[in-house]
Amino acid sequence: MYSSRKGSLIAIEGIDGAGKTTTAKILVEKLRELGFEAEYTYEPFSSPFSGALKKYIEEFGEVEPEIEALAMALDRLFHVKKVIEPLLKKGVIVITDRYVYSSIAYQGAKGADIDWIKIVNRYAVEADLVIYLRVPLEIALERMKRKESKWKYFEDINRLKKVLEIYESLVYQGLMIPIDASRSIDEVVNDCLNLILVKVIKPKI
Ligand SMILES: Nc1ncnc2c1ncn2[C@@H]1O[C@H](COP(=O)(O)OP(=O)(O)O)[C@@H](O)[C@H]1O
Ligand SMILES: [Mg+2]
Repeated sequence: MYSSRKGSLIAIEGIDGAGKTTTAKILVEKLRELGFEAEYTYEPFSSPFSGALKKYIEEFGEVEPEIEALAMALDRLFHVKKVIEPLLKKGVIVITDRYVYSSIAYQGAKGADIDWIKIVNRYAVEADLVIYLRVPLEIALERMKRKESKWKYFEDINRLKKVLEIYESLVYQGLMIPIDASRSIDEVVNDCLNLILVKVIKPKI
C-alpha cells in the first residue's frame, strides 16, 4: 500500500525521560513489520568529537555552552556524513533519537546564541519530520529515576525547565509536531506511526 520513494529522516525530540529511546526503537520495529527498511540511530553519537567532549568534561568539570555547541555540531556532522546520509541514499527510513533541535534546546538553555547554533548546524541534512514527545517535567523526572544516563550533567532541573521552554517555542513556530507522551507507550507509538505514515511516506498511486 505504501512505498518510500527515497530515504526519510525522522527526528524524535524531547527532554530526558520523555520516552524517546523507547519510542524510537519500537517505531523502527513497527516500520519493519510494515515492510519498510528502517534504522534506529541516536545523538550524541559515538564519534571522536563526543569522545573529546567527554574527556573535556572529565578534565575541566564544566563545559562552556559555545564549546559544547561546537562539539555537538561536529559530532552531528560526523553522524550525518558517516551514518545518516549513506542510509538515506539506500532508501532507508532513519529514526534519530535527538537531532539539531536538541542542540538548540540544550546548549541554548545554557546560554549559547540560538541563531549561531543554527548556523553551525547548517550542514546537517534537514529532517523530513520532527516529532516532539511532550511530557510534564514531573513525569520525565519520575521516568529518569528508573534509568542510568550516559549524560547525567545535562539533567539539572532548572536547566531542564529552560530546555522545555525552548522546545515549546520550536513547537509554537511549527518546527516540530508535539505528541502527548504522558500516555502509555502504545498510544505514543501509534500516534507517531500514524504521523510518519501520513506525513512522510507517500502512498502508491
Ligand atoms: N509512554 C511511557 N509510559 C511509561 N513509561 C515510559 C514511557 N516511555 C518511556 N517510558 C519509560 O521511561 C524510562 C525513560 O524512557 P526513555 O525511552 O529512556 O526516555 P528518553 O530516551 O527520552 O530519555 C524508561 O524506563 C522507559 O521504559
Ligand atoms: Mg534516551
